[in-house]
Amino acid sequence: MYGCVFLALLASLHTCDGGLAFASYYGDNMVLQKAPERAVLWGYGPEGAQVTLWLSGPKRQKTPPVTVTKGIWRVTLDPVEAGGPYNVTAILQSSTVNLTNVLFGDVWLCGGQSNMAFEMFKIFNASKEISNAANYTQVRIFMAAMRERETELIDLEQVEVPWSTAASKQLANFSAVCWLFGRNMYDNLKYPIGLVESCWGGTSVEAWSSSRALQHCGLQDNTDTDEDEAENGPSANSVLWNSMIHPLLNMTLKGAIWYQGEKNADYHPDKYNCSFPAMIDDWRFAFHQGSGGQTAPDFPFGFVQLCTYKKGSTDDGFPNIRWHQTADVGFVPNRRMKRTFMAVSLDLPDDHSPYGTIHPRDKQDVAYRLTLGARAVAYQEKDVHFRGPFPGQILTTEASLNITYDQTVSVTSSNDIFEICCSEATAPCGPQSTWVPAPIINWGPASVQVSTSYCQPMSKVAALRYAWKDWPCDFKSCPVYSARGDLPAPPFQVNRWPGNTP
Ligand SMILES: *[C@@H]1O[C@H](CO)[C@@H](O)[C@H](O)[C@H]1NC(C)=O
Ligand SMILES: *[C@@H]1O[C@H](CO)[C@@H](O)[C@H](O)[C@H]1NC(C)=O
Ligand SMILES: *[C@@H]1O[C@H](CO)[C@@H](O)[C@H](O)[C@H]1NC(C)=O
Ligand SMILES: *[C@@H]1O[C@H](CO)[C@@H](O)[C@H](O)[C@H]1NC(C)=O
Ligand SMILES: *[C@@H]1O[C@H](CO)[C@@H](O)[C@H](O)[C@H]1NC(C)=O
Ligand SMILES: *[C@@H]1O[C@H](CO)[C@@H](O)[C@H](O)[C@H]1NC(C)=O
Ligand SMILES: *[C@@H]1O[C@H](CO)[C@@H](O)[C@H](O)[C@H]1NC(C)=O
Ligand SMILES: *[C@@H]1O[C@H](CO)[C@@H](O)[C@H](O)[C@H]1NC(C)=O
Repeated sequence: MYGCVFLALLASLHTCDGGLAFASYYGDNMVLQKAPERAVLWGYGPEGAQVTLWLSGPKRQKTPPVTVTKGIWRVTLDPVEAGGPYNVTAILQSSTVNLTNVLFGDVWLCGGQSNMAFEMFKIFNASKEISNAANYTQVRIFMAAMRERETELIDLEQVEVPWSTAASKQLANFSAVCWLFGRNMYDNLKYPIGLVESCWGGTSVEAWSSSRALQHCGLQDNTDTDEDEAENGPSANSVLWNSMIHPLLNMTLKGAIWYQGEKNADYHPDKYNCSFPAMIDDWRFAFHQGSGGQTAPDFPFGFVQLCTYKKGSTDDGFPNIRWHQTADVGFVPNRRMKRTFMAVSLDLPDDHSPYGTIHPRDKQDVAYRLTLGARAVAYQEKDVHFRGPFPGQILTTEASLNITYDQTVSVTSSNDIFEICCSEATAPCGPQSTWVPAPIINWGPASVQVSTSYCQPMSKVAALRYAWKDWPCDFKSCPVYSARGDLPAPPFQVNRWPGNTP
């Protein structure tokens, strides 16, 4: 079937001998989006012919015939409750094509660069996790092949892993964050989960963004950029959007998770506070439109805040990207980034990763933290604690600052994780300013007191920041966690807080 579609694309959408076929990413063992959304299916056929879809299984459904136009037919099913198995049969006169063992559940797209692509066989406890996966017969995987293109494709050029059950050999090479997230969501929801991996290591957010999104941030033209060489290859503007995202727009989705940003630490880093939120907005718009309104226009979008790379580095751009991942707010969801959720991971470094320190092997904690966010934000589960502590109020006291958090905290002492900027200038402190340590001197149930003695007199304390280093602490040993749930405090930087404003 895939060979047929591939030929179809080369022959500008005339299927091989005009035959009936599904698009590349519909296959046996797949998961289609369950009710209340309606699954969209499409494929190829001879011009003008009438195609009907039959659904057989726990509930039966027969769609009204649709006409093949420009070589394509497209059907939107009536809503189907979670479950299965179903067979989906496309019928054109006497010819049929079937999808068997299809389930209805929630479909999640998993995107990003190498830490999302990071395979199951590379993580800690890999063999245990892979054999345990055989228990999850209702979680199904699919992987798009890595392709870059200059123009928007309507179907995937190639499928790397067709829809498969987790028992398949392919799982070892599947995204660990994606799989573990899907498995955890299954444990929670107890109905089928479909996972669509579309990732490429070392790639920029620009590559995954449409020209609409890039334009919004003044990035639409590669030649625009004075300070950088224009990117070629898979980081060039829109090339992966074109070939690995755009083709998927017509499938109904529940949401997306994303792990990317390392590449942008040295590629248009100062634009990331625009380019990343703009990509999310644009994906939402495009998937909503592509599915004929079935995928929610504000579908939930989860992401991993960057982990660590270079121990001892003071500024390799990671702190900046972590901040920009939140649109410079420090936490999500926020006003700019609605219905998003974030797994903080700066406390999960891996000094000894054989795949390089930029590829930490603990993906279980990353996926667990994403799952909490999905439960709270995507599924509106009440009382799911999914965010680490964030400062609400910062008061200046004599020779100290008292930081009050939005929740109770669990604190261990540290001399240098908090830093202050001493400045007479009215301009906000930035990475180039002089920062000195602000040792933790005391703490309460929801507050931390730090010393400002390295910066005297008091009036000169112009900003405070937390964990503003590539590698701020050892494994699960940052100084501030939530008392409830062991979630790390995300990094923050605050300039001239109330009470310290001149
Ligand atoms: C789906 O088709 C297979 C064979 O193609 C058949 O064995 C199975 O019973 C069918 N299942 C349903 C739910 O129709
Ligand atoms: C598809 O399914 C229908 C109904 O279950 C069956 O009659 C037909 O033979 C199947 N076709 C193929 C190609 O498997
Ligand atoms: C499947 O789950 C059962 C029950 O939790 C467990 O005992 C078993 O070891 C699991 N199987 C695999 C292959 O991990
Ligand atoms: C899949 O992973 C195995 C290691 O488990 C590796 O040897 C193989 O080359 C990979 N296959 C592909 C297609 O990437
Ligand atoms: C984004 O960050 C840059 C610095 O990195 C800053 O100059 C700019 O004002 C920020 N833009 C927004 C929209 O926050
Ligand atoms: C898929 O969605 C895109 C974007 O909305 C649209 O241009 C294209 O025609 C759609 N394809 C099908 C087969 O519906
Ligand atoms: C690996 O398995 C051990 C033993 O069950 C467990 O203590 C450890 O937390 C696991 N590691 C990860 C990253 O899940
Ligand atoms: C910080 O301020 C809060 C609110 O005023 C107070 O309850 C707490 O005791 C103070 N904490 C420290 C460590 O000074």
